[in-house]
Amino acid sequence: MIAKETVDKILETAQIEEVVGDFVQLKKRGTSLIGNCPFHNEKTPSFHVSVSKGIYKCFGCGKGGDSVRFVMDHEKYSYPEALKYLANKYRIEIEETEQSPEQLIADSRRESLFIVSAWAGKFFQQAMWETEEGKSIGLSYFKERGFRDDIIKKFELGYSPDGWAAMTDKAIAEGHKEEFLEATGLAIRNDKGKLYDRFRGRVMFPINNFTGRLIGFGGRTLKTDKNVPKYVNSPESDIYHKSNVLYGLFHAKKAIRDEDNCYLVEGYADVLSVHQAGIENVVASSGTSLTIEQIRLIGRFTKNITILYDGDAAGIKASLRGLDMILEEGLNVKVVLFPDGHDPDSYAMLVGSSAFKTYIEQKRQDFILYKTTMLLKDAGTDPIKRSGVIREVVESIAKIPDSIKASVFVRECSSLMQIEERVLISELNKMRLAKQKKESSTPAPLPPPDGFYETPLEGDASSSPDEAQEKEIIRLLLTYGHQLVNWDEITDTYIAPYMLTNLSDVEFDHPQSKQILEEYKTRMEKGELPTEQDFIKHPDATISELAISLISSPYVLSDNWYAKRKIYVKNETENLRATILGGIFHLKKRKVDHILKNIRTEIQTETDADNQAILMQRYLRVKEVEKGISSFLGSVIVK
Ligand code: GTP
Ligand code: MN
Repeated sequence: MIAKETVDKILETAQIEEVVGDFVQLKKRGTSLIGNCPFHNEKTPSFHVSVSKGIYKCFGCGKGGDSVRFVMDHEKYSYPEALKYLANKYRIEIEETEQSPEQLIADSRRESLFIVSAWAGKFFQQAMWETEEGKSIGLSYFKERGFRDDIIKKFELGYSPDGWAAMTDKAIAEGHKEEFLEATGLAIRNDKGKLYDRFRGRVMFPINNFTGRLIGFGGRTLKTDKNVPKYVNSPESDIYHKSNVLYGLFHAKKAIRDEDNCYLVEGYADVLSVHQAGIENVVASSGTSLTIEQIRLIGRFTKNITILYDGDAAGIKASLRGLDMILEEGLNVKVVLFPDGHDPDSYAMLVGSSAFKTYIEQKRQDFILYKTTMLLKDAGTDPIKRSGVIREVVESIAKIPDSIKASVFVRECSSLMQIEERVLISELNKMRLAKQKKESSTPAPLPPPDGFYETPLEGDASSSPDEAQEKEIIRLLLTYGHQLVNWDEITDTYIAPYMLTNLSDVEFDHPQSKQILEEYKTRMEKGELPTEQDFIKHPDATISELAISLISSPYVLSDNWYAKRKIYVKNETENLRATILGGIFHLKKRKVDHILKNIRTEIQTETDADNQAILMQRYLRVKEVEKGISSFLGSVIVK
């Protein structure tokens, strides 16, 4: 268990913009920061961070929370894991009771896999730097290839001893469980039930997730024997999902954001060499062909990808289609080709860092234009082939979601192909239309809101018809409840008790609003005055979500509501009393209206005249109440 003091310290220290900023590119807009939501795929930002409130909220998918919830949601961490992550980020020492072997077992399984992987990473490093075998075989291999010590250390490269179970035996001797060694794929069980090392006599490339935790390995053989696989990689596990991991991203992400560009290479060695050449914004899809998840991962940091290709034409052609996927995600793609026979690694080692940098700068070209030129060259003068080129190029352009950007490409490609723009445009429109037809079966996404302060106004006619009004009151309670009242005749009291007194005859229907109200009451009865933070950090996720969404949108209801009464309240705090009483009495009026409506239906369906008369009397009584509320509302608001 993490000590309460530590938890408090973490919560106090964590800055929402810094926590979120590690994963999302944030831009300032008005009083908040905005960016593309990391929880759903979007091209127009609807993800808002409020620094003063310490919360984030996405108006596209609805996710919201504080720093801890962000880490939990984003990294799929448990609450304690998220706290540990934040503690590590802010260098806060975690005070907790010493972990006994029993507690280690009790720790979540994923955490155990992380632990054994990190341990193995250390083991391979030690085996390389501190054993004779490691130094003479592993380390010397890296040095011969030209890797500097600082790069070898930064990427925590290692060596796996060429034995049967050197690593496994040591791991077990040190108390690691077979179960986790197997689950991470570090050890394999043979027919006789004995565990042996997956990686033997290989140089080791640890693979980190982008928060820096070790999740798997790539091990390169040192043999030239063609029958030995060049790379052996960790298998998929609970912590290692190949399709959403990019090798090197942890070390690259800061540079990617700073440079607003991400270089993409193929191999581990390429990442190291390019990094060593002083270009740190480089990642590899390592082995697998680029996946949509990997593209989105990059897209969180930058909208620009530059692909560094090995200089073999066949490989490039094969990958052309894959690149359309990047365009579809709204990213810009550039390519750099290396001279035949060279990959980024070999070329960087050959020419040195400054020539390498210059080469990349000079040779980078836009992917669509490159594709056009290359296909045209292949097609020669054959008219049928040339029309095929047009279709293929337009296909790529059609993938670009930004139509202005697309039209720029139409212009450039038309001049490259020497074809009139309108031919390309008509082809483009055909493709777009076909695409739209295909997609029209799925509902169109909601247009993104303009500002921070917009949420749906009226509640739907579900089980809680006054949901919007009830939420509005909870919003006012959470936002202003702990402020002191200073209105003409009323002073020396807080807004919360004032509101609760006025609400004593109202029953809430919306479950979460009701619960917040009840908890607020209970705590006030105990002499405490809750704050919005108490509900933002509420253990019940539905409560904390509601609190967050309310606090991040000051005008849940009032926009519409004030507009109807032709009252423009620029700043609700200017007339807080009217806002609060208005909110409360508006809800009361709705509740009374429901009652009136119910009585009316009863009267209509009642056949007995006496009963009808009784109902009628009741109706008139309630109607009186309604009138009172209405006129009070009028007076409060007009004031
Ligand atoms: P070097 O030959 O040391 O320069 O390695 P590299 O990292 O540049 O690898 P290469 O360009 O040959 O291959 C690119 C990537 O494909 C590697 O980094 C691996 O992720 C993957 N890969 C290559 N060979 C194999 C293999 O035999 N098995 C598996 N599973 N993956 C491989
Ligand atoms: Mn290579």
